[in-house]
Amino acid sequence: MNVMIYKDKETASSAAATIIAAQILQKPNSVLGLATGSSPELTYKNLVRLYQEGVISFADVSTFNLDEYIGLDGEHPQSYNYFMKEKLFNHVDIEEDQFFIPNGVAENPEAECYDYEELIESYGGIDLQLLGLGGNGHIGFNEPSDNFAPMTHVVDLTDETIEANSRFFESKDEVPTTAISMGTGSIMKAKSILLIAFGEAKADAVAAMVNGAISPEVQASILQVHPDVTVLVDEAAASKL
Ligand code: F6R
Repeated sequence: MNVMIYKDKETASSAAATIIAAQILQKPNSVLGLATGSSPELTYKNLVRLYQEGVISFADVSTFNLDEYIGLDGEHPQSYNYFMKEKLFNHVDIEEDQFFIPNGVAENPEAECYDYEELIESYGGIDLQLLGLGGNGHIGFNEPSDNFAPMTHVVDLTDETIEANSRFFESKDEVPTTAISMGTGSIMKAKSILLIAFGEAKADAVAAMVNGAISPEVQASILQVHPDVTVLVDEAAASKL
């Protein structure tokens, strides 16, 4: 695990965008794994700028998002589908049929999980997976558990995650309680992984991920045994390392 500490989230996010841009330049038809939430927002802003400046193009890129809330369709402002369009897809040269996000309103969520995993495989797997980190060490929506989910699956969100995500909704009651998420096993199949975490609220999870025992209680700890992981943190998130 290559851990890089930056002064603040601005410099770390610009470094994250540079790493993603380098991946696209090296392999224009890269398959990217993408995350939502507050952590990647500035990274996406930087990628949009790099696109506008003519440095990178998404014309041949395909993307797969980690997760989506069950019960929210793509029109819902808090759906991850909506988020991705707002923050990235609407501003770069990526077509509708090049980006994939689990369907939160699929009639059969279990079948949707299976199909999503198959689809990733059919694209040759993910070249570079971008991740955020939950305060409880989750990656995607893989919550603390007694096992590592091998594949895309339906998850019950913990109260802690519902609470953390309620900041994006009118009230906590509106936060969906279930989601579709790539499994920790799906994430581990990516050829390379880029994890970003900012702020003091992430310091315990960062320390447990980097230096703690490998345990499904801290899902991100399994990244210690992935051969190509880069972690970009600001000083606050690194304060317990
Ligand atoms: C989002 C996701 C989550 C977030 C994590 C951190 O697609 O998979 O694991 O990355 O909850 O969220 P933020 O960045 O909002 O602190």
